[in-house]
Amino acid sequence: SLADLDDTVPPAHRVADRFAAVPHPQPGLFENTPDTDPSVRSNREWADEILARVPSSDLGRATVAAARVSSEPELESLVAATRDAGLAWAALGAQERGRILHRAGDELERRRAELLEVMASEAGKTLDQADPEVSEAVDFAHYYAELGLELESVDGASFVPAGLTLVTPPWNFPVAIPAGSALAALAAGSAVLFKPAGLSARCGALVAEALWSAGVPREVLRLVDVDEDALGRQLVSHPSVDRVILTGAFETASLFRSFRPDLPLLAETSGKNAIIVTPSADLDLAVKDVVASAFGHAGQKCSAASLVVLVGSVATSPRFRSQLLDAVGSLTVGMPSDAATRMGPLIEAPGPKLREGLTTLGRGEKWLIQPRRLDDSDTLWSPGVRDGVVRGSAFHRTEYFGPILGIMTAATLDEAIDIVNEVDYGLTSGLHSLDRGEITTWLDRIEAGNLYVNRGITGAIVRRQPFGGWKRSAVGAGGKAGGPNYLVGLGSWVPSAAVG
Ligand code: SER
Repeated sequence: SLADLDDTVPPAHRVADRFAAVPHPQPGLFENTPDTDPSVRSNREWADEILARVPSSDLGRATVAAARVSSEPELESLVAATRDAGLAWAALGAQERGRILHRAGDELERRRAELLEVMASEAGKTLDQADPEVSEAVDFAHYYAELGLELESVDGASFVPAGLTLVTPPWNFPVAIPAGSALAALAAGSAVLFKPAGLSARCGALVAEALWSAGVPREVLRLVDVDEDALGRQLVSHPSVDRVILTGAFETASLFRSFRPDLPLLAETSGKNAIIVTPSADLDLAVKDVVASAFGHAGQKCSAASLVVLVGSVATSPRFRSQLLDAVGSLTVGMPSDAATRMGPLIEAPGPKLREGLTTLGRGEKWLIQPRRLDDSDTLWSPGVRDGVVRGSAFHRTEYFGPILGIMTAATLDEAIDIVNEVDYGLTSGLHSLDRGEITTWLDRIEAGNLYVNRGITGAIVRRQPFGGWKRSAVGAGGKAGGPNYLVGLGSWVPSAAVG
């Protein structure tokens, strides 16, 4: 639990991430990597070459070369060997590890085109969604490399790395999240067992290859293939696994905890995120940000906007809804191989919950735009917008993870905040308002880990917007990913005198 971890952390660090207890790297040591600028002609030509290699039909799944674990003795020897390799990695020191991780950032950048191609082919990401993900992965490498040095320079306490970290990322950010999780553990001096998500295993393998070719030993970063059955459970609950970094559903985190109640978990879990729009907002900007946040990557982001809460005259006048409908109606749905595609496919046919969200209205709701299945694969769905979502209803509280947005209304900003805070999750949240008083009220009252004012609510930027949730959007101990305290959760502190 967080309390247990806190006991190992010196007082200066016993604070939430938002207070930035570990200083950021010195200015100049870290700069965010820019995304590819599509207004440059040569960049568009480069993108066209990538898209020409992306299949135009179904998403392709590949098997990847990973350490296959199919028996208990294999599991035991893999865990023991990786843990042993971790000792040498820890002994290398932050300077040398940092050099390797900076090279990993350069390698990820060098492989940008290949990463984009596989993200489009395997995960259905359009290039405008995939490109920032590579930048984020590169940022994680350079940022955590610098933070690793900060850990070693804290006075009065020494940082002892976790020996072995298990990394279990999701399929929806198949490059940035595995890269970020593995790089964090490596920067903190731990060896990593990395089990990519089955639906985007090739993306995961590419990340591992980039890190290996930068000099991370294969024994220190192991790509693992293990079925999510009894053996998977055994791996998660193995006493030699010191940390588990999980990004996935809240239910998965709870399941992991049920395997091993004392599991040291850093989990970023589900979200049911809303953007509030008040009468003082720039409505054109609000529409643009709501559409991008709700339908980017077909809404398959824990950070996505699933609700927009319209306040006062924005709710009662037709303008916002009519602009929103024009914008959503103009989204071209298709495969990422087509440069005209604005919204790509679902990663697989909808499960029961998402299918219900795409097809079934709750009491008082009506479709402003009804989602439609566009092909036999059942993965291409047009975006949907439902109006009249009732407080406390299923749509108000359920995470669907797909291209459906619900509209709710409130008489006042306070009522809108109550509506948003009523859900069990608290990952991202947005406000569109140009009124300073409203912004202050919202910042004081809203319950979510990542707060965005007059901006979309997806696509957190490393260092500038450390990412992590509140309530059921986070389980276990941990600072925010891409923030100064994230590495702190990947080891423990002992008074300096006790070391060496
Ligand atoms: N970091 C992602 C975002 O901000 C979600 O995992 O959208």
